[in-house]
Amino acid sequence: MSRSERINFGSRLGVVLATAGSAVGLGNVWRFPFMTGHNGGAAFILIYLGCILLLGIPGMISEFIVGRHSAANAARSYRRLANGTPWMIIGYMGVFTSMLILGFYAVVAGWCLQYLFASVAEHLQGDAAYVSKYFADFSSDPVKPTLWAVTFVLITHVIVSRGIRDGIEKVSKLLMPLLFILLMLIVVASCMLPGAYKGVEFLFKPDFSKLDTGVFLEALGQAFFSLSLGTACLCTYASYFGRKTNLAGAAVQIALIDTLIAILAGLMIFPAAFSVGVHPDSGPSLIFITLPNVFRQAFLGVPFIGYVVSVLFYALMSLAALTSTISMHEIGTAFFHEELKLSRRGGAAIVTVLCCIMTVLCSLSFGACPELAVAGKSLMDCFDNVTAQVLMPLAAFLTCLFVGWYIPRTVVADELSSYGAVNAWYTGLYLYSVKIICPLGILAIFLHQFGLI
Ligand code: PFF
Repeated sequence: MSRSERINFGSRLGVVLATAGSAVGLGNVWRFPFMTGHNGGAAFILIYLGCILLLGIPGMISEFIVGRHSAANAARSYRRLANGTPWMIIGYMGVFTSMLILGFYAVVAGWCLQYLFASVAEHLQGDAAYVSKYFADFSSDPVKPTLWAVTFVLITHVIVSRGIRDGIEKVSKLLMPLLFILLMLIVVASCMLPGAYKGVEFLFKPDFSKLDTGVFLEALGQAFFSLSLGTACLCTYASYFGRKTNLAGAAVQIALIDTLIAILAGLMIFPAAFSVGVHPDSGPSLIFITLPNVFRQAFLGVPFIGYVVSVLFYALMSLAALTSTISMHEIGTAFFHEELKLSRRGGAAIVTVLCCIMTVLCSLSFGACPELAVAGKSLMDCFDNVTAQVLMPLAAFLTCLFVGWYIPRTVVADELSSYGAVNAWYTGLYLYSVKIICPLGILAIFLHQFGLI
């Protein structure tokens, strides 16, 4: 398919909202708060911001360059620029990584759907022991969470099958503003609770004593996960960008939106948790055990507000997850559609079947079949750790080296300047960053993690 035949996003707003939709997801509203809670609050956030700025934004621009230049699915994009060299593996790695992520991500997304229905039906009402048992019973059930996860993959399938403009772009333009409005409503309700300031303080006052070696790697993994970096997602979306899209401008805007939403998610969760005396370091269960307890308490003295906030919260989580699963699905859909010369629907169907299999295994590994484990960790935790801490940083590391050292300078210059439409004064700075700073930064954190420096 030539560049002129390939469909593009219909507008600049579509580019930013669809790509920000990929970035904004459970990573922001679920993973970021529990990681921040676990790693010392504001001190973690500072390191996280450093990772976004120094490593994340240049990494995003690099994936954009590869994708827009080649105007093809991720594997073909890297292959075209790699000219038969081993660099082309990066694209295939991205397609593989995105499917692994979709496998475990859909499980948590399915939990959100279940909790949305449970909060509407007031099934989450009860004391702390009841809420804990509710989660334990639900997540270890062999059928229910698995069906919800598969449902989530199927909803994603329907949207992705409709195509770039009618599916992904249209849905992102609708869901992203909605998500922001829901988030703001809950932030306001949460910050008005008595004692909420302790949560705000936790979020913004750094406690450096909590920092240890693992925190850096966690912050890096979280930054990459949150920006959808190292999965070829940004490369795939950039293949639908028009020639005039300013790549660096788009990367900065998307990183800003993503970070803003993560911080707002912290402002939604920590003040509420602190106001009822819950310390927010309870890990992944924060959202499914701690918060239902918070919502159960009368919000501002009115129990109905707790009910509404709880419904809005799980609706928000489900929407955030959906805009991200769409992008993960699109990576594989574009790949099978173009590489196997199938229709778009055919490509999407293959991804859906593969992801449903992985999702079922992940879901069962979490509760009903604990024997689905590797080295003592459930399959679900393994997929999460391997992708966020190894595959994504590794692919981002290789992409930076590839763009910085291998592909022709003229390609980088043309793409950064959008073929002359943009004054890319930062080209030298960008190249310095992807040639040296990003690879060294990622490498140092890896070596640190393995105790080598
Ligand atoms: N960035 C998404 C989040 O923060 O939830 C997760 C994600 C989306 C990872 C798309 C990878 C991907 F390809």
